[in-house]
Amino acid sequence: MIITIDGPAGSGKSTVARQLAARLGIPYLDTGAMYRAIALKAATAGIDLRDDAAMVALAEAADVRLDCGPTQTRVLLDGQDVSEAIRTMEVSAATGFVATNQAIRQILIQKQRTIAVQLGSVVTEGRDQGSVVFPEADVRFLLEASVEKRAERRHAEITTDGKAVDLNRVIADLNDRDDRDSVQWAPLLQSGNAVRVDTSDMTLDEVVQRLYDEVERRGRRSVEPS
Ligand code: DC
Repeated sequence: MIITIDGPAGSGKSTVARQLAARLGIPYLDTGAMYRAIALKAATAGIDLRDDAAMVALAEAADVRLDCGPTQTRVLLDGQDVSEAIRTMEVSAATGFVATNQAIRQILIQKQRTIAVQLGSVVTEGRDQGSVVFPEADVRFLLEASVEKRAERRHAEITTDGKAVDLNRVIADLNDRDDRDSVQWAPLLQSGNAVRVDTSDMTLDEVVQRLYDEVERRGRRSVEPS
């Protein structure tokens, strides 16, 4: 069965998707990692992110493999482990360009569909999973949360990693990303009848439980990997 989780930056979708997948005993797909890997490859190769033809050629040639485990995603780019390298602020910024390139989106969407067929069942997470990539998914979730709550969570994550960052800077960064996302994603995130969950006042465990209950309520469907 296919379960999609979409939502804005900092809505907690990666952690929720990972934990939901673990509880259901099915794989988890972090589609943002695929966009990040392409951005890293371009940056490393010194390719101009605005050079569409070069970027598409690079994305077509990229061998991106994901091993989305219960605690972290291992990402291999052309055989090299780039799990950490794709999480830097520079790569996040470059990924914005990759994500707006429609030709690259088509390449990655095809890969995501192929991965889902190979896996049989998957919890997949991103911005467009329920609306564009898997509109026929068994359950489609949309996570929402206030910008203040999302900033608090992101701030806690960064400081737990031992880095110092001002909360106001995190809020400003999320507002920027929301502005960009609202141009690109608002129509997609509004569309369809996804199950909307406002996580602002929920703990992580409560969110995972809410999604798990919804999946159980609808009845689980087991699909063999192909
Ligand atoms: O979820 P994330 O922060 O790892 O996503 C990285 C970037 O990729 C972010 O700019 C949103 C974009 N993205 C996307 O456009 N489509 C997806 N399915 C997943 C992520």
